Order: sequence, then C-alpha cells, then structure tokens
Amino acid sequence: MQFFIDTADVAEIRDLAATGLVDGVTTNPSLVAKSGRDFFEVLAEICDLVPGPVSAEVTATEHRAMLAEGRRLARVADNVVIKVPLTPEGLKACRAFTDEGTKVNVTLCFSPAQALLAAKAGARYISPFIGRLDDISVDGLQLIADVVEIYGAYPAIGTEVLVASVRHPLHVVESAKLGAHVATIPPAVLRAMFKHPLTDKGLAAFLDDWAKTGQKILSDDDAAEPERRSA
Ligand code: E4P
Repeated sequence: MQFFIDTADVAEIRDLAATGLVDGVTTNPSLVAKSGRDFFEVLAEICDLVPGPVSAEVTATEHRAMLAEGRRLARVADNVVIKVPLTPEGLKACRAFTDEGTKVNVTLCFSPAQALLAAKAGARYISPFIGRLDDISVDGLQLIADVVEIYGAYPAIGTEVLVASVRHPLHVVESAKLGAHVATIPPAVLRAMFKHPLTDKGLAAFLDDWAKTGQKILSDDDAAEPERRSA
C-alpha cells in the first residue's frame, strides 16, 4: 500500500518525507486555505520535496474552466496530479485530462456507483472519503470494500483506490486488509501509526539494562565520525 500525506503544510511534509515513508501528497482547497500561503508557491515546494504524485485540486465547476485551471496547475511540476470533483463536469474534465496524458484524482466520492463512473472516465485515482461517511453513521470502510471488489472484477480498470478522509490508524490498517492501493493520511495519523505503548516500554527497559553493562557499541571517536564526515 502506498502512503500519501494529506496536507498543504510544507514543514510537515518535509519532516515526514525524511522518514522515507511518503509516496505522495494530496492537497485540497481547504488545506491550502489552512496553510495561509499562495497555492502555486506551496505546490511547487511540495513537488520539490516529494517526487511522487502530488494532487492539486481545481476550483472551477464547469469542465472547460476546470481544464484551463488544471493545465495551469500541471505546468508547476511533472508530478502534479489534477484533482477534480465527482460531478458530471468533473468527469468530463477527467476524460479530457486522461486523453491528453494528465493523471487525474477524482475526489469527493461517497458511493460505489460514483467510483464506477470515475473509472469509466479514466481516472488514475478515485478518492472515497471514509471519515466523512463514518461521521454520518455510514460505514466508510464498506465503501472501500465495495470499490476494491468492483474494480477487481474488471482487469481493464486502471483506477487506483486512494482512501481519503482518514481519521485514525485503524482506517489505514483495515483499508490495507481490503487491498486499497493508497491511503492519504493526515500527518497526525501517520505519526500515531508509529506508536505502541509496549514499544516505548520495551525500549526503555532495553536501554536501562544496557546502561547497567557500562558498555558502548561505538567509542566516542567512532560516534563522532559520522558528524565529522558530514561537516
Ligand atoms: C483527500 O484528498 C482529501 O483532501 C481529504 O482526505 C479530506 O479529508 P477530511 O474529511 O478530513 O477533510
């Protein structure tokens, strides 16, 4: 499963990209607004930091205007993926972008029927929003199960299931069990995935016992060596 991070916060992306675990990034107009920054500047910085796909969303609602915006966004970097909403106009734009070789992420998907339409329109990614479904007492993970099953029945479908609106690590784990291709994960949720109290407790005990031996794996000189080399 690929991990994208769901943020337009460049500092967060830089920090998490250093783990080597980030395959891509998704943004949306709300996340850009939250960053308080210029969209084109932020997008260029993100595309520099992460070589994988970076989703940038159009804000027009008519397909010709979406195409004009998307083409402008796609000029920012080769790894920009254009995000369009799951509307008739969005899917017209999706077909046109796909035909001209631009990858599209179809966003705001809340039903298997919508996911089928996006696949037929040639989307590279479909983004089912599972947290927002859970919020209204509809099982978001069931939507992932349905879409994975439907796409899996048609080998010609090249659309990848990009699990969106992720709220906690279990959403990621359960989506992985269902065979979703990608999860776009908020930074706080990705950090939470590292955590287990028994890891912290076990490490503290190992370090405590090691200190009692009075031994060191590296001499002080050896330990300073990597710093000297990078200086
Ligand atoms: C996906 O691309 C969206 O940016 C995102 O996952 C929306 O999540 P939210 O429901 O937390 O806003």
